[in-house]
Amino acid sequence: MLKASVIADRDFTIGELDRRVFGCFVEHLGRCVYGGIYEPGHETADEEGFRGDVMALVKELGVTIMRYPGGNFVSGYDWLDGVGPKEDRPRKLDLAWFSTETNQFGTNEFVSWCRKAGVEPMLAVNLGTAGPDEARNLVEYCNHPGGSYWSDLRRSHGYEEPHNITYWCLGNEMDGPWQICHKNAQEYGRAAKEAAKVMRWTSEGLTLAACGSSFREMPTYGAWEYEVLDEVFDEVDFISLHQYFKNDEQDTARFFSHVDKLDSFITEVTAIADAVAAKRHSPKRIMLSLDEWNVWYRTRSGTDTKQPGWPEAPKLLEEVYNFEDALVVGGALITLMNHADRVKTACLAQLVNVIGAIMTQTGGPAWRQTIFHPFAQASALARGNVLRLVVDTPTFEAGSYPEAPVLLCAAVHDPDSGQVSVFALNRSLTDAMEFALDLRGKGAFTLAEAKELHHADLQASNTVDAQDEVSPDNHPDCSYDGMLTAKLKPLSWNVFVLQPRA
Ligand code: AHR
Repeated sequence: MLKASVIADRDFTIGELDRRVFGCFVEHLGRCVYGGIYEPGHETADEEGFRGDVMALVKELGVTIMRYPGGNFVSGYDWLDGVGPKEDRPRKLDLAWFSTETNQFGTNEFVSWCRKAGVEPMLAVNLGTAGPDEARNLVEYCNHPGGSYWSDLRRSHGYEEPHNITYWCLGNEMDGPWQICHKNAQEYGRAAKEAAKVMRWTSEGLTLAACGSSFREMPTYGAWEYEVLDEVFDEVDFISLHQYFKNDEQDTARFFSHVDKLDSFITEVTAIADAVAAKRHSPKRIMLSLDEWNVWYRTRSGTDTKQPGWPEAPKLLEEVYNFEDALVVGGALITLMNHADRVKTACLAQLVNVIGAIMTQTGGPAWRQTIFHPFAQASALARGNVLRLVVDTPTFEAGSYPEAPVLLCAAVHDPDSGQVSVFALNRSLTDAMEFALDLRGKGAFTLAEAKELHHADLQASNTVDAQDEVSPDNHPDCSYDGMLTAKLKPLSWNVFVLQPRA
């Protein structure tokens, strides 16, 4: 039996958790929009064509902010195609995913969907085929109350009140040669700076995110962040990071190491952003937006990413997640929480069907993928201050990390309710773990809730016929007696809720 102990003190914190780390992403890609969140004629669809079954699952997932409309799609997108009377909207070829875009869903539908779902919209502007002019026009269309060309166009489209979108991404993955109108760091930095300026002049109080690297292994990684931030430092609030986790070798330990790599990635980008600040003698701190992250390796090539004949809403990137993937997603969530001081936004990519937490059949049901569960639990329970833990854990060899911690753990203290939520992942492939958490500070607790996500088969997944094959159970072996103790099964995700004793 392995042993791991954790010491926490409610006065020692990493930082306040920004609830925007529980964001997701909707792209015009495959069946994410059409057949995912939007399907007029579906038996659960409302008067705007939004699927009610998907909407209910989105609320259960606890998503706080939603990135839209891409992704690679945005770099060729003319937002004007997606507004106004639906019968007048053009059908266009989407060069990102080689599909036909019908434009029956656009900016206004997205904002309306977000309001119904209770999530904050995060819009990305096209800095591929378009530039600062189209970006500032979209900001005016969305945010200006009225009395100008673009705001009055919005009003004529039936949206009298401004949308007041705060959070904007300045393009998408502009470092990637696959991007429509890819740019080098200097070209992108200039375009992003000028777009940011005119967007801010159009609407006050915007939060702006510049594109960082598409993934940590990009040849331009590091230099890209430095050069871009050196140009846009004064204009932006965030630099983005994207990371997808692969398991091509079917090696669980190596697969887990993606979580350790994510930790390194966050630490490195933070250091680069602070180096740019140091060069300027600036106290400003650029925050990190991990606005695309997930497991994605099964559906990356051939017909998974491109189908012939320019189809409408084809099945693309429809990754079916298993229990092993849910553990990796849990590990990533713990990592995000433990970087609460700098990672202030994150978007699981994506929401539905396309590498999604939710899966649907067009014309049929919707269900929770395995990865849905750790995300929903973390979003439901993690609020307040992330505690700075002292963790004593055995280590193991995970990919290029010879001494990766077997136990990953995060604890979040809500100063309003006094509740402490604890998330613990036992990454041992073979051994159970005796886990002990000594939570110091005033007052005693009761163990109000304890859940375990475990399955004997790492390959187990949730399907239309077995929708709850992988889902959390009550924890079978834990107690609180001045100290939280639990037996964590090998390869298990565990959640404990401690409430202050009255
Ligand atoms: O999420 C799928 C794709 O992955 C996005 O369109 C792109 O930004 C990333 O490469």
